[in-house]
Amino acid sequence: MDVLLDFSNKVALITGAASGFGEALAYALSERGARLVLADYNAEGLQQTVSQIEGKGGEVVSLVGDVSEEAHAEALVKLAVERFGKLDIAVNNAGIAPTLGPMVQLDAKTLDHQFSVNAKGVALGMKHQMRVMAAQKDGAILNVSSMAGLGGTPMGSSYGAAKHAVIGLTKTAAVEVGSMNVRVNAICPFFTATPMVDNPHLNPNGDLEEVNRNLARGCPMKRIARVEEIVNVMVMMLSPGNTYMNGIAVPVDGGMAAM
Ligand SMILES: NC(=O)c1ccc[n+]([C@@H]2O[C@H](COP(=O)([O-])OP(=O)(O)OC[C@H]3O[C@@H](n4cnc5c(N)ncnc54)[C@H](O)[C@@H]3O)[C@@H](O)[C@H]2O)c1
Repeated sequence: MDVLLDFSNKVALITGAASGFGEALAYALSERGARLVLADYNAEGLQQTVSQIEGKGGEVVSLVGDVSEEAHAEALVKLAVERFGKLDIAVNNAGIAPTLGPMVQLDAKTLDHQFSVNAKGVALGMKHQMRVMAAQKDGAILNVSSMAGLGGTPMGSSYGAAKHAVIGLTKTAAVEVGSMNVRVNAICPFFTATPMVDNPHLNPNGDLEEVNRNLARGCPMKRIARVEEIVNVMVMMLSPGNTYMNGIAVPVDGGMAAM
């Protein structure tokens, strides 16, 4: 296999692996030889991902839990080391959708919830992942931010703020552990057809295609992304051949950042 796509000696941890990007990335890394530690708070969805991978002969362990709890973050890293002896890759992907509404109606509970999952979950995950990777003098962390982490997020201020925090955490971590050969980067997808977006709650009247057309109106490519278009970039960023990219937030956005 091409060295850029060969993950056969890699151990990768992915949060939010029951659905969307996390699930698709788990398949993509397993197909390329990685051994996986998968997590989600959706036990049933997580088990489905695990069964798919095991059905194809992949090696995988899993843990049900909430990323906003530090004990879960610590237990996941411990599981990787106990089962596979190391942790090469960690993808802090689990996240919740924005609660939609104007900032003048923002309530403290929504803000706390967004920060608890979308920012604290990433921070606590990294804390424990970086400890083991720094000791190994090797590792790559990928945090899933969003285009909402790079610009204003009208009607989703608390989500946008939490996703900006993910980029701040990514840069700080990259500077702190870069000298130990641990790279930390973030990916910033535009709207993508995962269950978070391709979801009837966004349009109770039903027409998801219309919702997607509206979401994509301002995008130069005039469409939202397909899941594999984001996951392929995740694989590129985590590639064993990608050894000098550190501390960067990469938009994958059909040209939105060029506007
Ligand atoms: N889909 C998009 O348009 C889009 C765009 C930019 C960024 N993102 C980000 O991508 C990431 C993945 O989202 P997705 O689009 O695949 O959505 P998704 O809803 O399909 O997947 C998110 C997963 O995270 C899990 N999860 C949520 N809260 C959790 C918690 N507290 N503890 C453990 N697991 C939890 C869910 O159960 C789910 O399996 C999120 O961080 C999201 O903010 C998504």
